[in-house]
Amino acid sequence: MKTTDVLVIGSGIAGITTAIRLARNPARRIILLTRSADLHDSNTFQAQGGIVTHGPDDSVDLLVKDILEAGAGASHPEAARILAEEGPPRLEEVLIQQAKIQFDRDQDGKPAFGQEAAHSRRRILHVKDGTGIAISNGLVALLKKFQNIEVLSNATAVDLITYPHHSKNPLDNYRGITCHGAYVFDRSGNAVHRTLAAKTVLATGGLGRIYRHTTNPAGARGDGLAMAFRAGARIVNAEYVQFHPTILAAPGAEGFLITEAVRGEGGVLLDPAGFPFMEKYAPEWKDLAPRDIVARAIHVEMEANGYSHVLLDIASHMSPDALKSRFPHIYEQCKRVGVDITLESIPVVPAAHYSCGGIAVDVWGRGSIGNLYAVGEVACTGLHGANRLASTSLLEGLVWGCRVAQDIEVELLASHPVVPTREDIPAWDESGLITDSDPALIQGDMQTIQNIMWHYVGLIRSADRLTRAIRELRHLQTEIETFYRNTKLSDGLIGLRNAVEAALLVAEAAYHNRQSRGCHFRADAVEAGDRLL
Ligand code: SIN
Repeated sequence: MKTTDVLVIGSGIAGITTAIRLARNPARRIILLTRSADLHDSNTFQAQGGIVTHGPDDSVDLLVKDILEAGAGASHPEAARILAEEGPPRLEEVLIQQAKIQFDRDQDGKPAFGQEAAHSRRRILHVKDGTGIAISNGLVALLKKFQNIEVLSNATAVDLITYPHHSKNPLDNYRGITCHGAYVFDRSGNAVHRTLAAKTVLATGGLGRIYRHTTNPAGARGDGLAMAFRAGARIVNAEYVQFHPTILAAPGAEGFLITEAVRGEGGVLLDPAGFPFMEKYAPEWKDLAPRDIVARAIHVEMEANGYSHVLLDIASHMSPDALKSRFPHIYEQCKRVGVDITLESIPVVPAAHYSCGGIAVDVWGRGSIGNLYAVGEVACTGLHGANRLASTSLLEGLVWGCRVAQDIEVELLASHPVVPTREDIPAWDESGLITDSDPALIQGDMQTIQNIMWHYVGLIRSADRLTRAIRELRHLQTEIETFYRNTKLSDGLIGLRNAVEAALLVAEAAYHNRQSRGCHFRADAVEAGDRLL
């Protein structure tokens, strides 16, 4: 058993920022948990396009306006303003000054701002097309300098520890549920330990892996969302799963993103015969329309015409040298699978990319469970509304990482939080677990979830599709729960249990929301004034 002041679960920009901000007080003890062997294994690492800030001729008001418009009227204006006001100074302080990230500069040595869809200004800072790699490397290096942060890798949180669930403190039932850490599965030791904490921060990222096609890494199974839901947290906007329009469609390149910045630099979407089609769907913005519109337009083109993919042409709009220098990772990756982007168009399809909803939190990252915070993609600050504006997620993780740390520090200084003792919280009991985890069952069930979500809870939804999805997912959940209660733990089993929970949360939220808005599109319940194609 371990005890700590703060337990942070997740090693993307949101989790690491929270940890390093707290660690500035040397008296604080922080444990940072990652299910992976490597701290870099996160959605942050995969981010290509960049991170939004203020560009030339830009303003807080203009950025807020773009966020709210992309969010299709469902964003929380206060969250948008916080991001637009606090984002640029936090970026300068944490990423540039402390983590020493060198964003690209133009020939005059000034920041080279990129353009992305639905932004009315060029305002995206980037490190070529590997911004996430640079940010992750910088933050991990910074994290390692703090002696008071203990990193536990190969460690998967199983469930949050809450008093009422152990019937230990009846008063908690009146005060509301409070969180006191998590049960953690240590893969190296093959055992579950109690990690008790005064404050727990979920920074586990998203849930793209519940879909058959996604840009997300293996850990994005909705772990934090499912744990919080089981503990009684309020979840909102789960139906707003954003699909990225342009994923490389070639064998051996599954999930590889072609950043929106390619269209920002002039790239144009074409049907397989070479005709541009975005004007039909978004006459004003064309290829730079908000992401939900572009992704759905591609989906409609593919479904109506039986295309397996569409094309993205950048070769006609940038010189080979400029292309290789601005998008070196994309150039290399495409070349590896036989596509030379300096000569030919890139085959692309949409894929699940980002969860705009999540654990409902306030402007300080506090949710409905005491002592529990959520930050980054797992949380819903309301910023993204029904459709996230490109390149706002890294900044959200940074800004709210700082905010969560600030709130925790104030709370810890103001009170003497009760960290439960070994006696309060029972040890993990695995006496009934008789079966070894069967990878074939886990993989098979995971693929079933991914197929259900892709076909019935994807880019275009309907009551019929959603009803079918919910029925099948509920049946699967019963099977998985029985399996879970008899089987020795593994990371895969924990993920499967979380994935089916997260899938149900998304499907049920989609079923109950009959209004098409942003990335939630109901073919059967379109109302006047909804933004369509
Ligand atoms: C991209 O580079 O297109 C993705 C960036 C984002 O998801 O914000």
